[in-house]
Amino acid sequence: MEHRLDLTLVKGLNSWMNRRWCSSKTLLCSSSSFLGAVLAVYYLFPGHCGHQFLTHHQQIPAAIELPAYPCDRKLIILYWTKYFGTADFGFGTGRAPFIECPDRGACLTTTDRSFVNDSDAIIFHARDINVNDLPPDGWRRPHQHYIFLLYESPENTNLDMLRQPLFRHYFNRTMTYRRDSDVFDLHPYGRMECIDAASPSCTEFPRTTQNNIIQADSSTSVPVNVDLTFKNRTIAWFVSNCKTNSRRELLASKLSQFIPVDIYGACKNGNNTCIDRAACDETLSRHYRFYLSFENSLCLDYVTEKLYRPLQFSAVPVVYGGADYSMYLPAGSYVNAMDFDSPEHLADHLNKLMVDDELYLTYFRWKEKYTIKRFPKIGMCQLCRLLGDPETKDKSYADMAGWWAGDVNGTNQICQPSTNFRLKFS
Ligand SMILES: *[C@@H]1O[C@H](CO)[C@@H](O)[C@H](O)[C@H]1NC(C)=O
Ligand SMILES: *[C@@H]1O[C@H](CO)[C@@H](O)[C@H](O)[C@H]1NC(C)=O
Ligand SMILES: *[C@@H]1O[C@H](CO)[C@@H](O)[C@H](O)[C@H]1NC(C)=O
Ligand SMILES: *[C@@H]1O[C@H](CO)[C@@H](O)[C@H](O)[C@H]1NC(C)=O
Ligand SMILES: *[C@@H]1O[C@H](CO)[C@@H](O)[C@H](O)[C@H]1NC(C)=O
Repeated sequence: MEHRLDLTLVKGLNSWMNRRWCSSKTLLCSSSSFLGAVLAVYYLFPGHCGHQFLTHHQQIPAAIELPAYPCDRKLIILYWTKYFGTADFGFGTGRAPFIECPDRGACLTTTDRSFVNDSDAIIFHARDINVNDLPPDGWRRPHQHYIFLLYESPENTNLDMLRQPLFRHYFNRTMTYRRDSDVFDLHPYGRMECIDAASPSCTEFPRTTQNNIIQADSSTSVPVNVDLTFKNRTIAWFVSNCKTNSRRELLASKLSQFIPVDIYGACKNGNNTCIDRAACDETLSRHYRFYLSFENSLCLDYVTEKLYRPLQFSAVPVVYGGADYSMYLPAGSYVNAMDFDSPEHLADHLNKLMVDDELYLTYFRWKEKYTIKRFPKIGMCQLCRLLGDPETKDKSYADMAGWWAGDVNGTNQICQPSTNFRLKFS
């Protein structure tokens, strides 16, 4: 995954602080920074507590860890596994993941396993679970929430591992991109947000029900800031995984018989190059009208950063996936390949948008009300609220693989083969 917060901390000070102030569990300082050390000194003065200090001085960088006990106990969330090699899951440790929460969430995250017994939640990234490295059985406390976290599709999940008896009633909560998760999270993928959340004409995406949609605006003047001067190339696609369950590569290849598709990266089909991510984004924004937001699996709610990249860089996404995209974006902001019965008819529509600038520009009306948030924090905020809510009921998943993949006697209900749709291309 590409996202990584720059939380490089001063390691020397960190261990100094741990020795000096955090030798007992009355303080939680699993990592720190220079300012953290200053705060720890501040903490020495009687009558003051680190948390109050933070609340009143909000300009302090988010990476700071504060002494949590005894002034104001924070709920502790332990990252048990890594997230594809990233220890802090890209969320950060300490108070960092919660600083942007509307309620500033009274939680802390840590990677320090010595807090295993004191944690309120323990997060397991399903792709990084090692069954020989789990918290010892007898140490588990009934109030603790074991969290199943995953952002890959069920088709890229080790379901056999999850089907082991050990995982029956093991996980208490799910934290995934699926809208029916206990904690719904889009952190690695992004989302479209209202510029003015208070505006009654703005819908929060992703929507949770079919109903909370606002009627599309009928305004015809579109003051969108999209420069068409050099936008005379058709479709770009930056892709490195060339053979997928969704057979998107075959769809792209069929589509290219009717409209040029410039593939960049490991699966390139010509001499197209851009030197790095920023250069590719610049090329997309300046020269191309469309981008292929083709998912590698056709699964319920599986919508990734591939959707938000073109939106952020002024191209219209041509989507292909298993989600109901009307739940994710306003109507008229994308082209759904699944709405057509053949690659040729899809290409006809795109070719029309190559020559009709006025029609093409209507696809950017969303910019009047919405903005793209690349790393939304909604999930961690929701997890923290769930842990702190006295109404939260005990829960556990008897069959995690069953919930995740929709296993019904070996048939997968959550993901579908490409042949299940109206669009035919094989
Ligand atoms: C956790 O609690 C168990 C007793 O339930 C104890 O044996 C163990 O040492 C504790 N582990 C840590 C890391 O504190
Ligand atoms: C796009 O426009 C540029 C500059 O006008 C021109 O050189 C180029 O050939 C055009 N490309 C296509 C694909 O029409
Ligand atoms: C790619 O570049 C090479 C060398 O410059 C050239 O021979 C070849 O025709 C080009 N291929 C395409 C598809 O443009
Ligand atoms: C979590 O699951 C375990 C095992 O099923 C159960 O004993 C415990 O009560 C659950 N805790 C919560 C907070 O749901
Ligand atoms: C699954 O298989 C079992 C045993 O063969 C059968 O009783 C059950 O009805 C099946 N369930 C579904 C949903 O097909």
